[in-house]
This record gives sequence, structure tokens and C-alpha cells, in this order.
Amino acid sequence: METIPSILQQRLSAAVGDSSGVPLHVTPASDSRFGDYQTNAAMQMAKQRKANPRALAQEILEKIDVADLCSSVEIAGAGFLNFHLRPEWVQQRLESLRADGRLGVPAPERARTIVVDFSSPNVAKPMHVGHIRSTILGDSLARIAEFLGHRVIRDNHIGDWGTQFGMLLLGWKTILDAAALERDALSEMERIYKDVSARCREDAAVLEAAKQELVRLQAGDAENLGLWREMIRLSQSQFDTIYGRLGIRFDFTLGESFYNERLKPVVDELRTLQIARESDGAICVFSDGAVAAEQDPFLIKDKDGWRDNPALVLKSDGAANYTTTDLATLQYRLETWAPDEIMYVTDGRQQLHFRQFFAVFARWKREAAAKVRLAHVWFGSILGEDGKPFKTRSGETIRLADLLDEAVERSFNQVSERNPALSEEERREIARVIGLGAVKYADLLPHRQGDYVFSWDRMLSFQGNTAPYLQNAYVRIRSIFRKLAEAGEVWAGGAPLALEQPTEVALGKKLLQFGEVLPLALEEHRPNLLANYLYELANTFHAFYEACPVLKSGGAQRAARLELCEVSARLLKTGLGLLGIEVPERM
Ligand code: ARG
Repeated sequence: METIPSILQQRLSAAVGDSSGVPLHVTPASDSRFGDYQTNAAMQMAKQRKANPRALAQEILEKIDVADLCSSVEIAGAGFLNFHLRPEWVQQRLESLRADGRLGVPAPERARTIVVDFSSPNVAKPMHVGHIRSTILGDSLARIAEFLGHRVIRDNHIGDWGTQFGMLLLGWKTILDAAALERDALSEMERIYKDVSARCREDAAVLEAAKQELVRLQAGDAENLGLWREMIRLSQSQFDTIYGRLGIRFDFTLGESFYNERLKPVVDELRTLQIARESDGAICVFSDGAVAAEQDPFLIKDKDGWRDNPALVLKSDGAANYTTTDLATLQYRLETWAPDEIMYVTDGRQQLHFRQFFAVFARWKREAAAKVRLAHVWFGSILGEDGKPFKTRSGETIRLADLLDEAVERSFNQVSERNPALSEEERREIARVIGLGAVKYADLLPHRQGDYVFSWDRMLSFQGNTAPYLQNAYVRIRSIFRKLAEAGEVWAGGAPLALEQPTEVALGKKLLQFGEVLPLALEEHRPNLLANYLYELANTFHAFYEACPVLKSGGAQRAARLELCEVSARLLKTGLGLLGIEVPERM
């Protein structure tokens, strides 16, 4: 189905003829009193032609043919055109939407292949809240892209290689507590890692021993390789438990170690092509002066002015690093999947890394780089209510598993208070859906590049822009149909719509915006646009429901209103599903 802005754009373009390259944007009206959609095309064109914008708007107004879909078009302000939709036309579009398996979301002009690199925790370390945002955001973006009709490849780039394994191996061989490992493998691995790394800082002999373990691992020593694999296996099984709880899946889990063989050739090629060179024993990429200093990731400004800030691809000890691995990974992905886009969902603190890595890649593979969109989808931090990084009371980082447990537990208490009559099993299931939904929604709702304050009370509240509020909107609609069934009425569905009351028309218009919001959320990598849309939809539904009796009305009107309820519930459920959030049938 086409979206309303795209239909209006075509009509506009037919009226304007040659807009000499000025884009004819149609957007939802900023204030519904001034119409439903608006365009500033006349103002944009007037600027270019040095003409009077209102006169140009008048000219367009006289030519534009929108009588079938608009009840009126008027000029406002400096030369805006405001479009008011005809309720009959809205109704007709909504008829198409509810028959459409895509709920009015247009098919993309061309289906793209999109790799989403997300979650990507590190082996032998528990997943902490820092990984939660990557996991939740990446999952939602993958779902949205898939729903839109793209080919999506979910790749978990776990950190399973690096210097930490020297310490882990030494700790494993000397201080491992087998019973503790059995109970909680990640905690025990974390403990031995912390213990050894603390001792490494004090004792050069320990540091040397850890280095030797690492050298043996890298040389392919059978024992060390075996232990390393065991650490990966144990970590992966705990990650999988969390992914299972969160309803998250991956198509591939190709950790950093998968690229080991490809690292050296990358460094060699960069040297041969004179993109990288030796400096202080390391191999580095420096600025090539191609862009202004402000935009150059290989320069940094300090009090004496601009100085070099090279990207290392080989450290002076001969080891490759994060940048080298990302270059090799990108090369592999391009060869293997030929993606149109790759999204890297990580913390904002990795911005410099990604800017450098993308820039090195563009110098290395100019043609390939021109064909793929590389996006660093970065996000801010989660803060505690004191405004400081979110930690436990004793100052430890919070584990994702504990956080999810607490969410479900708190929600269970709420559910039990509200519905003491439900069986414990039912209350547990509802609590699971609400608790996990609340955590996900709280993470997806804020603009991802900002920090947000983690607040149990806020995220679990039934009031305001929260998951429970949206889930409750769905449940309330479902309860209408339950009442119907309880009264012995068989509801077959499929009656014609009849948008008569203003709140009904408003709801129809809101439902039709789903197809406008979703492509934008993907394009800008912002699931929060979808979250906010769903919130507006729920509010628009409530306004309708307050003003228009459904079960107490009669005849064709009642049947039509039930249809409006049905499609609203379906869209809410689908939309929340794209945020990775389930809905309960009651709560
Ligand atoms: N393992 C990394 C971390 O925990 C994230 C990896 C992100 N993906 C990538 N291709 N660099 O910070």
C-alpha cells in the first residue's frame, strides 16, 4: 500500500511540473487544527526562483488535483500548503489497510540485504546492562527491517579472542573453584579474571606467566585451546539463556576468533598499499589529509593545535587489535553476504573506533565502500536515579540476568495485587510479559543517543508512555471481544467500516500512519519513532473509546466500531512485536 504522503507528493509533483530539483516533501501537519498533512514545497521553490512563496503556493493550489482525497487545501503562514483529508477517503484507505497483511506498510522499492551486528558480549564476562541496549535496539531494528521486507542477517560478533585469555587461562589452571564454576560459570570466570589481573598489576612474574599462556594459546597449544573452547561454550550457554528469555535469535555467531587467519593478510595489504606504516614499532594508519581536520578521525586537537591520532592495526608486540578484526570481519561479510548495509549497534564510547575503521576501509576498498552503507548505531548510557552510571548498591555493575529477574518479580507483585483471583501460573506468565516488556520499552523509548535514567517505578507504571500502558490498551480492546463472547455472541468480523465521529476519523488517520513511521524508524535507526507512534495510537484509541460506545451501540455502527477495535488491537500487537515486546491477553 502506498502511504498518504507519497500519494500527495505525486499529486504535488504533477501540479508543479518541473520543481528544478527541489524535493517535494509532504509531512504530517505539526498541528492537527491546520490540517492533516502539509508541504513547504512552495517556499522551497520560491527561494530557489526568488519568487513570492505565497503566490507560488496559490499557483500550485489552483493546479493540484486532490479533490478525491482532500476536503480542502489551504495556504498558511509564509506559504505552507495544508491538506485536510476527506473522512470517506480515510475510511477507504483503512479498508485497504485492514485487508493488508503488511498493515499499510509499503514494500520497499528494492529489498536490501542488511547485516545487524548487535549484542556482541565478551566471553568469560557476564552480560551487563551495557549490553542490554545493544541487544534490545539491534533486535528491534532487525525485526523492523524484516517486516519491511528486507533480507536481514543477525550476526553476534562475540568477543572471544584477545589478551584477557592469557589471564583467564592462568587463573583457570591455578585458582579455579570447580564447584563455583558448576554453579555459575560466568561469575567464576569473572572472579579468576579479576584476581589474576589484579596480581598482574603488582607482580611482573604473574604478568609474564599470563603472557606465556596467551602465547601458547595463539600458537595452537592443545590444552589451552581446549580450555579456551570450554570458556566459550560455558559463556555461550549463559548468553543463550538470556537470548531465550528475551526472544532474541541470531543467524550467525561469528566471534572475533573466527577472523584470526584473516588478520595478517589485512595488515600486509594495508602496508603494501601504503595505507598503513610503521611508527614506534606499531603499524598505524595516519591521516591522508583528504578531509577537513574537523572531520578527520586520524587527527585530534589539543592546546597546541591538531596532531596525529592514528589507528593501530598491529600493536608493537605484533598482535592485531579491534580495528584489524573489524576490517577482516567487514571484508568477510561483503564477500559472503554482499550486504547493502551493515549496522553496528554499540555504545557511543566506540564512536572514534568506528569512524577510524570506516575511514581505513574506504581507503582500502574504495569501490566496495561506495556500495555499502556502514552505520554505527550508537547509544548513550543507562544511569541510576542518582544520575550516575547504573550500578548495584555495593557499586558493582548490574548483570542483565539479575535485572530481568527483578523486572519480572516486581511485575509479579503488581499483577498479583491487581488480579488476586488469577492462578499463580497465569500471574507468572503475565508478569513475564509485562516485566520484560517494561525493560525493553524503557530502553527503546528515549532517543538512543542520550543517556537515560533507569527507574523501576516509571517503567512499570500503567500510566504514561510505558510498555504496561500500551499492553493494557491492547488488553482493553481484547476484553471487548471477550465480553462479546461471554454474552454468547459470535463475532465473525469483516463488517464495513464507518468513520463518522471525529474521534473515529482521528483513529483511522493514526492507524494509517504506521506505514509512514516504520520506514523512517529503519532509515534513521530509531525504534523510538515506532514507540512514540504506538503511544499516540493508544491515546487516539482511548479518545475514541471514551467518546464512542462500542458494545452499547447498535446495528451497523456497532459492527463498524468493533472492526475499528480489531484493527487497532492488531496494529498495537504487531507494532509492539517489532519492538520485541509481547502482549498478554489479560493483565
Ligand atoms: N564485543 C564488543 C564490546 O563488548 C562489541 C563488538 C561490536 N561489534 C563490532 N563489530 N565491533 O564492546
